[in-house]
Amino acid sequence: MSRTYPFPKGFWWGSATSATQIEGAASEGGKGENIWDHWYRIESNRFFDNVGPETTSDFYHRYQEDIKQMKEIGHNTFRFSISWARLMPGGRGEINPEAAVFYNNVIDELLAHDIEPFVNLFHFDMPLELQEEGGWESRDVVEAYTRYADECFRIFGDRVSKWFTFNEPIVPVEGGYLYDFHYPNIVDAKRAFQVAYNTMIAHAKAVEAFRKHNIMDGQIGIILNLTPSYPRSQNPADLRSSQIADLFFNRSFLDPAVLGEYPQELIDLLQEHGQLPETEKGDSDLLKVNTADILGVNYYQPRRVKAKESLPNPYGLFMPDWFFDMYEMPGRKMNPYRGWEIYEKGIYDIMINLKENYGNIPSFISENGMGVQNEERFMENGEIQDDYRIEFIREHLKWLHQAIGEGCNAKGYHLWSFMDNWSWMNAYKNRYGFFSVNLETKERTPKKSAHWFKFVSENNGF
Ligand code: NOJ
Repeated sequence: MSRTYPFPKGFWWGSATSATQIEGAASEGGKGENIWDHWYRIESNRFFDNVGPETTSDFYHRYQEDIKQMKEIGHNTFRFSISWARLMPGGRGEINPEAAVFYNNVIDELLAHDIEPFVNLFHFDMPLELQEEGGWESRDVVEAYTRYADECFRIFGDRVSKWFTFNEPIVPVEGGYLYDFHYPNIVDAKRAFQVAYNTMIAHAKAVEAFRKHNIMDGQIGIILNLTPSYPRSQNPADLRSSQIADLFFNRSFLDPAVLGEYPQELIDLLQEHGQLPETEKGDSDLLKVNTADILGVNYYQPRRVKAKESLPNPYGLFMPDWFFDMYEMPGRKMNPYRGWEIYEKGIYDIMINLKENYGNIPSFISENGMGVQNEERFMENGEIQDDYRIEFIREHLKWLHQAIGEGCNAKGYHLWSFMDNWSWMNAYKNRYGFFSVNLETKERTPKKSAHWFKFVSENNGF
């Protein structure tokens, strides 16, 4: 078949999910509590429509049906995360045998369908007990994470070769320590930097542990939400702010993960403002040696940066001087059903940056997707006619194709997400899946985009 946009042989087509967002069974199967179970229990009104992590698509009981559908729509890869609190209730100690059976079954089922499992170890879901010990502010928690990661490599490493230490590690920093949309709802920039730093140390220690396992063809990396920063004007203040936003929100993880060190400019900035995190002897060497083999890139929208002029900074002593309000961007293409900007070329800019400044590390689009509110309104003949999502994916793929043509090392594309899922405080407000889920009956129905994606995956292009 002739295709205008052919992708390289062996390209990864699939979708991404996370444990807390799809598993359900939050208090079944010996699982311990994580911060989401806890926060919902004490403040359910903070969640959209009062819906908590117990109400999900119930992958825990329906994974076989779901994996069959993944195969049906042409997936050759699939990302899920392991729930630390399920595998090791309390975050330390004995493995919960029921959890090991569950994750083993998921892996085996995927392999039996020729779908390669991509396993992520941490997707925002800290075991509650460890949060009570200080969460990522505590180096003991970093050690506990390293042991948990090591156990995962030991139990599942005979069949899983693609591993990721963290998904979007900046999000718990922003949500939990700056902007109050994740537990523990602290607003304190200095503590936020400590959390970010310790997460990176945890990442490097997990990579170090991974290397000792000699996993066949094993690759380990991290998944980052790289958000290109574009200044809103060419005036020097906006240019500078945009650069600072890039340092904080992209390079604070990207540089240590891929280059093995923090940008000097970031260190200088933090120092200047008395915000340098506490470090331990040996940390720099640890980072230097344990760089990632592979990088997952989550991309939804860019950051349009404008310097703050007179607004006082509500978030503590020092935060980058940016001000971000999408409705002030006349002329920009927006997702009319959710309100985020759509800028497909962002994906190309990210890839070119990786090629030029990060050694062209093997990478893939680990999340991209379009959230839609009240999506049932597009239901016709029993299926959601999501032509807008098809267009969204297609246009992003065109830019990815272009980047690959220019020598970028992009290996695949995963949509967020396989099915509609529980999205933290937004619960089910925005729907993202290839499959819609009836929350009462748990019935899954493919959307039009699922059929289209099958065509693209099976033809390795379009
Ligand atoms: C990124 C996160 O990894 C995922 O958990 C979230 O639901 C999606 N973005 C959509 O917002």
